[in-house]
Amino acid sequence: MSTLQNRTAVVTGAGSGIGAAIARLFAAEGARVVVAELDEARANQTARDIEADGGKALALPVDVGNASAVAELFAELDRRDMPADILVNNAGNTESELTPTAEVSDQVWDSILRVHLDGTFYCTREALRRMTPRKQGIVINLGSVAGLSGLPGASSYSAAKGGIIAFTKAVSQEVAPLGIRVNCIAPGWIDTPILNNLPDEWRPRMVKTTPLGRLGRPEEIATVALFLASDASSFVTGQVISPNGGLYC
Ligand SMILES: NC(=O)c1ccc[n+]([C@@H]2O[C@H](COP(=O)([O-])OP(=O)(O)OC[C@H]3O[C@@H](n4cnc5c(N)ncnc54)[C@H](O)[C@@H]3O)[C@@H](O)[C@H]2O)c1
Repeated sequence: MSTLQNRTAVVTGAGSGIGAAIARLFAAEGARVVVAELDEARANQTARDIEADGGKALALPVDVGNASAVAELFAELDRRDMPADILVNNAGNTESELTPTAEVSDQVWDSILRVHLDGTFYCTREALRRMTPRKQGIVINLGSVAGLSGLPGASSYSAAKGGIIAFTKAVSQEVAPLGIRVNCIAPGWIDTPILNNLPDEWRPRMVKTTPLGRLGRPEEIATVALFLASDASSFVTGQVISPNGGLYC
């Protein structure tokens, strides 16, 4: 029997990179995957890829930074009788380039915090409202090494990810007695389109500072997410796991 058979998994930002890899692996393990993604074309593509592999997927475009849009997403799952057993808060954005904090605009600060931190809160709140009466559920948040050690030139992103790590710890203690587990994955440098906003000269630097000597692959984060989503991690909650190739944070 597959690990996630008969579970519904909502994966935000699953149209690209790490989210798409998690969605594909969870579907391969038997989950019905809800591809909750801002970009409709990308959402549909991930759902098509999953179905082409014989899995079950439903593309539902959403802006996780919009509380009423997130509420509507979960209401739609209620109407379909598909309560989320697993929520992966993965959606993310970055500044278009590294920016000294003194030059960060209100608009950029708000956009980064809204997608990462508000989005994680909105989706978690809606999921917990459904998981609590069922006394079961798994929440997996995407942090970053930037939220552990800080990334100069990306203070908004670092603050959002640090916030997600603290949010994980607080919520996990709150809901553990209800049978709900909440953990955080804090990846190092993973080869996805989100890195395109960093200067070209950063790539060799990322490789050099990673003891394993390469960037990670999205699939190497998906396997950690599968561990956290499955009964293999039944005694793990409130933790930050950092698949980072040996970066010291
Ligand atoms: N790639 C890395 O090196 C790295 C390292 C640490 C953490 N992360 C985190 O992993 C997560 C996934 O990043 P990725 O590297 O796969 O990036 P990516 O750019 O490949 O994918 C991010 C996805 O999120 C979607 N998205 C953006 N805003 C959204 C919104 N408001 N609502 C719904 N979807 C939205 C995008 O359309 C995109 O499909 C992010 O939270 C990111 O911060 C990435």
